[in-house]
Amino acid sequence: MKALILVGGFGTRLRPLTLSLPKPLVEFGNRPMIAHQIEALAAAGVTDIVLAVNYRPEVMTAALKKYEEQYNINIEFSVETEPLGTAGPLKLAEKILGKDDTPFFVLNSDIICDFPFEQVAAFHKSHGEEGTIVVTKVEEPSKYGVIVHKPDHPSRIDRFVEKPVEFVGNRINAGIYILNPSVLKRIELRPTSIEQETFPAIVKDGQLHSFDLDGFWMDVGQPKDFLTGTCLYLSSLTKKGSKMLTSTSESYIHSGNVMIDASAKIGKNCKIGPNVVIGPNVVIGDGVRLQRCVLLQGSKVKEHAWVKSTIVGWNSTIGRWARMENVSVLGDDVSIGDEVYCNGASVLPHKSIKQNVDVPAIIM
Ligand code: GDD
Ligand code: MG
Repeated sequence: MKALILVGGFGTRLRPLTLSLPKPLVEFGNRPMIAHQIEALAAAGVTDIVLAVNYRPEVMTAALKKYEEQYNINIEFSVETEPLGTAGPLKLAEKILGKDDTPFFVLNSDIICDFPFEQVAAFHKSHGEEGTIVVTKVEEPSKYGVIVHKPDHPSRIDRFVEKPVEFVGNRINAGIYILNPSVLKRIELRPTSIEQETFPAIVKDGQLHSFDLDGFWMDVGQPKDFLTGTCLYLSSLTKKGSKMLTSTSESYIHSGNVMIDASAKIGKNCKIGPNVVIGPNVVIGDGVRLQRCVLLQGSKVKEHAWVKSTIVGWNSTIGRWARMENVSVLGDDVSIGDEVYCNGASVLPHKSIKQNVDVPAIIM
């Protein structure tokens, strides 16, 4: 089977992390976001994956080629000279996606769930029409693409509305599709949106179906959602009894859902959890309190700091007795001084913060 992952876009909503690394390479649960997708595609029998790239392709190629061997798959980079949106890249990769008449998967690169590729493929085959979109229910549908069904049919889609201003429904496009190669004929080679142009056209011909997702789902392309998605992902690992989580019998683990890389160092008398990810070579000082946070590779949290709802960027340092909360995000190599308080601070790479940030702010 074949798949295309949309890996372009500038990831502006995940700044300051994406100032240092393309969004699909930012580690989610201690692995690049896109590694979760590649692994799940390979497990479902996909052998050809196209990565549709327009932003910093060289960084992406270097990081992702290794997965070819690891999962025994072919990864092809399809590089846009100008951003082609969410549909144009499919046309650009027509030679691969249309090489035979079997359907192909399309994925947004910033979504996380228990990818049900095999079930989706079976469902798509069973209805025999042009496309299937995986859908999930959310409380705030306005930032997504919303689907509305035909009243007399359980899965045929009647309307697709991208980012609706008025409420039309709460079942949304989860960013996973399976499409027949005939869809490629509907797309022109220019910057164009699958949500705004291609889906409405397929819907008009009554050829687009929905598949309901079971379990958790999140678009992790913004800091607040990245943290929520991390909690959902860790909870799902707990439910499965995954060995990737740190055992709750460790004295410093508080109420579970904690993932700690083996190379990280944890001080004495810490209290960690729930919902914490600690990356490679992270150093945690004595008496540190961590909850609902992600510490990326090489970061340091000094003695007695208190960290909640925060993403700590690569190689950043949080000082002694510092207090971080309310979706604070530190870019690469940031330093937070001793005793400093950060309330929703978004700090650009290489900055030193010596004063409190009392109200949410971008520090550049
Ligand atoms: N190759 C390429 N070129 N990829 C692109 C481009 C481009 O020009 N522009 C965006 N992408 C990629 C992004 O990297 C991402 O993986 C995907 O296309 C979707 O773009 P986002 O910017 O993340 O869109 P969104 O989150 O606002 O909305 C989309 O995802 C929602 C689910 O998370 C839409 O598909 C919504 O309908 C959907 O509900
Ligand atoms: Mg997104």
